[in-house]
Amino acid sequence: TSHIPVITIDGPTASGKGTVAHKVADHLGFHLLDSGALYRLTALQAIRRDTSLTDEHALAKLAEHLNISFTGEAVFLSHENVTDAIRQEEVGNTASKIAAFPSVRQALYGLQLGFRKTPGLVADGRDMGTVIFPGAQLKVFLTASVEARAERRYKQLIAKGFSANMEDLLMDLKARDDRDTNRAIAPLVPAEGAHVLDTSRMAVDEAVAQVLQWYAAAAK
Ligand code: CDP
Ligand code: CDP
Repeated sequence: TSHIPVITIDGPTASGKGTVAHKVADHLGFHLLDSGALYRLTALQAIRRDTSLTDEHALAKLAEHLNISFTGEAVFLSHENVTDAIRQEEVGNTASKIAAFPSVRQALYGLQLGFRKTPGLVADGRDMGTVIFPGAQLKVFLTASVEARAERRYKQLIAKGFSANMEDLLMDLKARDDRDTNRAIAPLVPAEGAHVLDTSRMAVDEAVAQVLQWYAAAAK
């Protein structure tokens, strides 16, 4: 499958990875891998089953046996539509805790590789370019100031009908950045050869256009 093109989009929480990845995939007619959703699904399952967040073995078992499916923008866990449920901040924060366990990451490894199908894939997350698809045709590291990201997340949560508080969000975002950046395994860092794009003052469509331009240049 190494001939099938992959674009990786990694970056911190609320940098716009998901939104940009979606639009780039739509534009190119490529498949999409929201790798964060896999960690969020594992986290949701752990919360619901009251699994201890320090029990690496039990958490890896959950990850290994996830019964998931993606249809368009919707995510299903054992046939239940959990698209909105996995977007709660509690689930994101739990996801970032369990994502630090090597055996949880290992359990999700093969599943992620399976998304590489013709005509191509856009994959977003933390380690798409560094660990999962190191041979990707284009690697992007999307970032933005923590204030810009907190504001984006705030608007998103309110729009989904969740309650949100700017001060708590800023604190949670910083804690999550810290955990994702400083963990021993698959930490959040730009991949070798990645194009870094700071979108603090950039509209979504500008970011999408930049990624498409880089891809066109890389595909030549
Ligand atoms: O996937 P990630 O957590 O990186 O971010 P997201 O879920 O795509 O959310 C980013 C939010 O900020 C979305 O509501 C976007 O519309 C908005 N936004 C953006 O993504 N990029 C910009 N340049 C400006 C706003
Ligand atoms: O949307 P947001 O950027 O907040 O988070 P996400 O991409 O849905 O991922 C949730 C959490 O899962 C992150 O904070 C990471 O700790 C973890 N994750 C990871 O470790 N590796 C990935 N490839 C994707 C997500």
